[in-house]
Amino acid sequence: MPQHVFDSVAEVLQHLADFFVEQAHQAVAARGRFTVALSGGSSPKKLYELLASGAYRERVPWAQVFFFFGDERDVPADDPQSNFLMAKTALLDPLHIPSANVFPVNTRLEPEEAAQAYTQAINNFFGPEAARFDLILLGLGDNSHTASLFPHTAVLHVATASAEAVFVEELNAERITLTAPLINQARAVAFLVFGADKAAAVRRVLKGERDIEQYPAQLIAPAEGEAHWFLDKAAGAELH
Ligand code: 6PG
Repeated sequence: MPQHVFDSVAEVLQHLADFFVEQAHQAVAARGRFTVALSGGSSPKKLYELLASGAYRERVPWAQVFFFFGDERDVPADDPQSNFLMAKTALLDPLHIPSANVFPVNTRLEPEEAAQAYTQAINNFFGPEAARFDLILLGLGDNSHTASLFPHTAVLHVATASAEAVFVEELNAERITLTAPLINQARAVAFLVFGADKAAAVRRVLKGERDIEQYPAQLIAPAEGEAHWFLDKAAGAELH
């Protein structure tokens, strides 16, 4: 799994933005479109703002980009906790992305129904062939979760390439998440992780004993693709 470690967060974001541009051009050249699943939380906000900035906005054929979400909180789309709202504010609205190119999780439904509806939306989009995202952006929690694949949850063992609802005890909250098999169908996966508070989780996932219950991000290994890690030095400090 290629690890790209940089001194500063600014450099990490710039290199990941360059990677995003490269993946977009490759996908559009090969298939006429670029399908990306966005990650949530706080880390990617600056990446999205950078991609929407003058430095990058002209470098991506946005009209051919289709946006999905790696996971979503069970909150309304206008809730500050919403991953969709964060992406809408930082990326989609500034770039005037048409709503037809954006596939949010329908959190007006109950979690189980929302997950089923999302699985259906993904399968409808990709048609009869397997749902293969060109790029899936992921973060990493300090407890080694990614997307909403949290430690000791049943979703870690779901064998279908789908979206599933999961109740996360430690958050006392419902989430909807892509499963590891669906993430692993992607052509490329990119983790964006920075800050010293993530260093132990990065080490456990990349160098620790194999234990997917404790370190769910170990599940991520694209079958016919690569998982890239974009790290700052602080997050990568325990790798050596
Ligand atoms: C979410 C994310 C989640 C996130 C990690 C890291 O919905 O919260 O999908 O997997 O990537 O929790 O979050 P931070 O970037 O805020 O540290």
